[in-house]
Amino acid sequence: MERLLSMMRQDAELTEKTLYELVPATDADYGVLLEAERYSLLAGGKRIRPFLVLSFCRLYGGEDKAALPFACAVEMIHTYSLIHDDLPCMDNDDMRRGRPTNHKVYGEANALLAGDGLLTRAFGTAAGNPHVSAELARDAVCALSEAAGDCGMVGGQVIDLLGEEQALTREQLTRLHSLKTGALIRVSALLGCLAAGFSADSAEAQAAVAYADRIGLAFQIIDDVLDVTGDEAQLGKPCGSDADNQKTTFLTFYSIDEARAYAARLTSEAISLISHIDGSELLTDLAVYLLDRDH
Ligand code: IPE
Ligand code: IPE
Ligand code: MG
Ligand code: MG
Ligand code: MG
Repeated sequence: MERLLSMMRQDAELTEKTLYELVPATDADYGVLLEAERYSLLAGGKRIRPFLVLSFCRLYGGEDKAALPFACAVEMIHTYSLIHDDLPCMDNDDMRRGRPTNHKVYGEANALLAGDGLLTRAFGTAAGNPHVSAELARDAVCALSEAAGDCGMVGGQVIDLLGEEQALTREQLTRLHSLKTGALIRVSALLGCLAAGFSADSAEAQAAVAYADRIGLAFQIIDDVLDVTGDEAQLGKPCGSDADNQKTTFLTFYSIDEARAYAARLTSEAISLISHIDGSELLTDLAVYLLDRDH
């Protein structure tokens, strides 16, 4: 676990340094937009998705420089999704990554636009990856688009909002989690494989995506649990947000212990999907770390 934590720290720094360069401050007349983007992007965050991109790329023999543009693209999309998720018309939350939410500082319109800016920049960043073939860059952009869009994260957010008004079935909730959180986690693993030169239909990429599918669902189950049991200072975001918004979550169907046990089963499944691959120890440790996390 020590090695994992040190790698995660190192990779977060690498990602942040690159994000810093990709989203430069400017004194242009639209400078406030870049300031708002940087405010949320560089506020910390666990950088799990970039870590997955980098780790799968390394696992399959690729180079960091090929993975980094994809890692930053996915973190930009993730950060945009958080800015919009916190808006008053969505979850209406005031704290994120230990700071006031974007709209609290820059106003709703600028927060909306900062999200738009990050989302748009993500596609340019992935498409312009100079260290992969044009074909792999195209595949990465298509995969990102699918994962972020209506049949991915955005679609999941729509079902999440529906769940405030009507009871969802357990199956609908699992699908909602698989879209709103799972899709970006799965595509992170896939982007790592693409950066290493493996196509989406390779056995390597399929194992990566199957692993990410299990840890992605476990990740959102634990997020639901932490919304009830977590510590706001640790989490850097409010607890009780789901209850305030009458969300359907895993805790609608399961007790906290049952939800944790469910996440633990998914974690074991994830590990069994990749543990035969040489060099997969960091990724098997990551699955356990995400299950036991307190933030
Ligand atoms: C929070 O994601 C939103 C969910 C998808 C549950 P993270 O828990 O990865 O947030 P950061 O990036 O560390 O802030
Ligand atoms: C949001 O899920 C996931 C996305 C931003 C797509 P949540 O609404 O549960 O995330 P938190 O708890 O606010 O981080
Ligand atoms: Mg939400
Ligand atoms: Mg939220
Ligand atoms: Mg949550």
